[in-house]
Amino acid sequence: MTAQLNPRGDVAVLVPAAGAGVRLGPGAPKALRPLAGEPLLVHVVRRIAAAPSVHTIVVAAPAADVEPVRAMLAPIAPVIVVAGGAERQASVAAALAAVPAGPEIVLVHDAARALTPPELVESVAGAVRAGHDAVIPVLPVVDTIKEVDAGEVVLGTVDRSALRAVQTPQGFRRSVLAAAHAAARDPLTDDAGLVEKQGVPVVCVPGSEYALKVTRPFDLALAEHLLVAGA
Ligand code: CTP
Ligand code: MG
Repeated sequence: MTAQLNPRGDVAVLVPAAGAGVRLGPGAPKALRPLAGEPLLVHVVRRIAAAPSVHTIVVAAPAADVEPVRAMLAPIAPVIVVAGGAERQASVAAALAAVPAGPEIVLVHDAARALTPPELVESVAGAVRAGHDAVIPVLPVVDTIKEVDAGEVVLGTVDRSALRAVQTPQGFRRSVLAAAHAAARDPLTDDAGLVEKQGVPVVCVPGSEYALKVTRPFDLALAEHLLVAGA
């Protein structure tokens, strides 16, 4: 059944989905690869559309796949599909440019985090609504972290109590994200990193184990198990 988005919602979610998925191994672009029989992008759009504040979803698809992605998502939810770019940042910028007037909160959410629960979309959006210009979901770092030199010799142990692993959706006041992208110079920086460079404070909220990023084949297998278990 096609989900309805909320015409009175105040949130636009941008979904960069134009990456190749090189680390997943040979095959289709990652967002189009199947997880339990459906493309990752279908799983993620379905969950975003289930978040009650969402007014608009914009997907940045691989440039060669815009039409098939549009057709694939039409039965899931009303989604705007644009062509992504060569870098994630260009894909996000293309999606941001397609957001219609209205939503003043913009979330950026990796298609690769296919099992992200709608509740996380709401909690990030809620923190922006409450007055924070930039919000990221994070998890504590559980492994011991070592800094090493070029020869893999340990230089020291990093204090992990001050470290956080960052997920998406990352949420922003719309004008803040637009200004950060307009000023962007370093394509390797994430959206919150661009905003940090503008001197805007970025606030952390609790992330979710289910928002894991599918990067390597192991992650895909794990996501498949989680889905079978009810995620
Ligand atoms: N992404 C994008 N446009 C790009 C590169 C990445 O929209 N030019 C998106 C991916 O589709 C993904 C998200 O950014 O949803 C996070 O990127 P990543 O996990 O690195 O995905 P890929 O770039 O596809 O994977 P890889 O780096 O292994 O090729
Ligand atoms: Mg990548």
